[in-house]
This record gives sequence, structure tokens and C-alpha cells, in this order.
Amino acid sequence: MKIGVIGLGYVGLTTALSLAKLGFKVYGNDKDKEKMEKLKNGICPIYEPGLDELLVEMKEKGNIEFIDNISETIRISDVIFICVGTPTNEDGSPDLSQVEEVSRIIAENLNGYKLIVEKSTVPVQTAQWIKRTIKLYSHENAHFDVASNPEFLREGSALYDTFNPDRIVIGVESERAKEILLKIYEKINAPKLIVDVNTAEIIKHASNAFLAMKISFINMVSDLCEKTGADIKKVAEGIGYDRRIGREFLSAGVGYGGYCLPKDIRAFYYIGKIHNLDFSLLELVERINNSRIDRLMEKLKKALWHLKNKKIAIWGLSFKPNTDDIREAPSIKIVKRLINEEAIISAYDPKAMENFKKIFQNIQYGKDKYEVLKDAHALVILTEWDEFKSIDIQTIKKLMRTYIIVDGRNIFDCEIFRGQNIEYYPIGRTCI
Ligand code: UGA
Repeated sequence: MKIGVIGLGYVGLTTALSLAKLGFKVYGNDKDKEKMEKLKNGICPIYEPGLDELLVEMKEKGNIEFIDNISETIRISDVIFICVGTPTNEDGSPDLSQVEEVSRIIAENLNGYKLIVEKSTVPVQTAQWIKRTIKLYSHENAHFDVASNPEFLREGSALYDTFNPDRIVIGVESERAKEILLKIYEKINAPKLIVDVNTAEIIKHASNAFLAMKISFINMVSDLCEKTGADIKKVAEGIGYDRRIGREFLSAGVGYGGYCLPKDIRAFYYIGKIHNLDFSLLELVERINNSRIDRLMEKLKKALWHLKNKKIAIWGLSFKPNTDDIREAPSIKIVKRLINEEAIISAYDPKAMENFKKIFQNIQYGKDKYEVLKDAHALVILTEWDEFKSIDIQTIKKLMRTYIIVDGRNIFDCEIFRGQNIEYYPIGRTCI
């Protein structure tokens, strides 16, 4: 079976390389020429643990090839995974123009039966639109199926998640499509849920919306903990023991970011709206998330009185650890606010500084986590990278001008700072 993967972002590239690892002959295509050039030379365009090694391994084995011409990719493939971007329009609706464009090109290059698999996150009924588009633009006897096979991988653990998924969702309309997808995933040990395509599409959006809701819920409760002297970490543990609630995604912090949750919550809300349904719950989820930035800034200002000409050190710029991705990262909003307040910013991130420099050229960047602390009035932690989880109190005292830490990711125990004359402000806990 030859598999074409169109769109080589986080999801597309991980899918392509994982399918190659499973033993299929994979053809990858992306319209970004620079990215294609890198991939052809065995260079991974994104930072994702294990992906660069797998790229080299699969190229050497000959299981993956990168093809510039999309039409050729389609013609030589039996199965085509659509993994192009579905960004948000101004009004919150998802922009599906890339999916439509790929569907048209598929239509023009159908040279026998093909299974078209929609992997990008899309609104319910998009597969129907893909089907209609292919029928419209191809000759009468076009022979194909469209399936929905949503992806649940997380950035930072993309490969692990792909090979160890909680479930595989297969949305199909024909026995043939079902058999092909079951064959593709036969070596992966996970529950396989066979549903219709509309159901599969909703499963994906509902999953991400639920995760975002969980995060906003715990953040809402963390505000109450701060007001009352309770401890959000213990509250999360206490409710998380209940198997109906579950322990994951209950870390209070500076809010969710990234390419997926913010975009998907908006898209799902929009879908509810166009069907005249009350999805306002999701509006609140987003509102609570946005207010995380205000809460963090309030804390910082309360500690420093005003921020003008104060040096603020930042640890962590990526939207989560183990990735260089800064899309919709809380750090972007915080840095903008700090610039407005005329603070002096000195930032460090193990992997995301190059991406951050593309947006903010005029802030300082440090070589390591301690360099940025020199003469800083406060340290603000925005990503829970492992290397931030150990802290040398004496070095902090030697370097910082005033000993204030605002921790947007709740990574330290209060005990570490007790008796040290360091003011530590975490989320949903009171340490001083
Ligand atoms: C998310 C989903 O978790 C994946 O299942 C899904 O496949 C993916 O979107 C997608 O649709 O492509 P991802 O965006 O990589 O994955 O990252 P998450 O691990 O979900 O984290 C999202 C944000 O929530 C991060 O900013 C993280 O810091 C924040 N978060 C997460 C919290 O603030 N608290 C938590 O308890 C968990």
C-alpha cells in the first residue's frame, strides 16, 4: 500500500514518519519549498523529540520520499492523508480553503480507486464537502472513498502518542475504506472505534473542547483557592482521584495555548452557532483562559508596584515543554503587556527562542536560565520545562536585584523558599 501525506506540519510529518515506520511506502508533500528542501536533506523542520532520528532512519530505509509535485504524490498513492492547516478566520470560523484546494487537486488526479483520509481537525460535515468537491471536479466515474481519522497526538510527545494512542477513531462510509484503515493500524494496540464520518469529526472537536474546558475549570477554581488560602494542587488531586473526573489536565496555570485548543474551541463554538445551538459554555472557557494573563500581570504588578524600567526575566516561551512551538503561547501575550508597561525583558527558553525572535527582536535573550536573572526585579515562569524545576537559591540571590518569582506553571513547593527572603507567587496557592 502506498500512502501519500499532504501537509507536513506537526500532525502530517509525524503521521508520515509513523506510517513509514509501520512499514508502508510513504510519499510526503508540502507546498512550503523551504520545508521540503530540509526534509529531502534529512533535516527535521520542527523540534519534536525523536522525530529527527526517525526521519533519517526512514529515509535510509527508503520508506519515505518527499515529492514536490502534489499531483504526482496523489497519482502514485493508494491512500491520501490530508493533513493541511485549518486556521481560524477573523469571525472564529475555521478556514478550510487549504482542504478545498487539496480536494480539487485530488479530483483532477484520480487515476483509480483512492481512499482519502481527512486527518486535519475540521468541522463536522467537512468530509461531505470533500466528497462533493471531488465529484464536482473529477470525471463521472470517479472511484474513491472519504474517511475521517482524527489525530489525538500532543506536541512534545507526538511519536509516543502516535504509537500508544488511547484510541483510534475511524469514520467511514464503506466496508472497503474500513478494511484499509484497519490494515494500516493493525500493528497498533489500541481500541479502534468504527463510526460514521460525521461522528468521527465531532469526536475530535469535542475532545479538544473538553480538554480546554477542564483547564479553564481548574483555573477558575484556582482563583477561589487564592482568595481563600486553599491549595489548588491538593484540590486537583482530591477531585482527580474520582475516576469519573480523572487526574489529567487539571494543572492550573497561565492558561492553554498552542495551535490546537484555542483554535478548536473557537471553531466548535462557531459550529454550534451556525446550527442555532447554545454553545456559550465554550465562550466562557475562552474568557476564563484569556483572563489568566490579567491575573498573572496583576500578581506581578502587586509585587513590584509598577513595571516601568523594571527588568523582568522570563523562563519559558513555548506554549508547553518539549516543543519549539510558540503559536498562541501565553508568553506572547505577557511579553506584549510587559512592553506596554515599559518593562525591560530578558527571556530564555531551551528551544523556542529562535521562533520568538521572529516576533520580538527588541527584547533581550539569555544563553541559559541564570543569565537572564542578572539584575532582574522579578522572574516569571511561563513554561514548565524540566530544566526549570531545579533552582539554586544562592545563585538567585547573587544575581537578582529583588527576589520575586511569579510562577505561571506552579512548578515549585512553597517550602523551597521558606525563610529565604524570596517572594514566591504560584497559581492557586499562597506561599507568603
Ligand atoms: C492538544 C490535545 O491534547 C491533543 O490530544 C490533540 O491531538 C492536539 O491538541 C491537536 O488537536 O492537534 P497540544 O496542543 O499538543 O495537544 O497540547 P496539550 O498537551 O493539549 O496542551 C495544550 C495547552 O494546555 C498547553 O498550553 C498546556 O500548557 C495547557 N495545559 C495542559 C494546562 O494549562 N493545564 C493542563 O492541565 C494541561
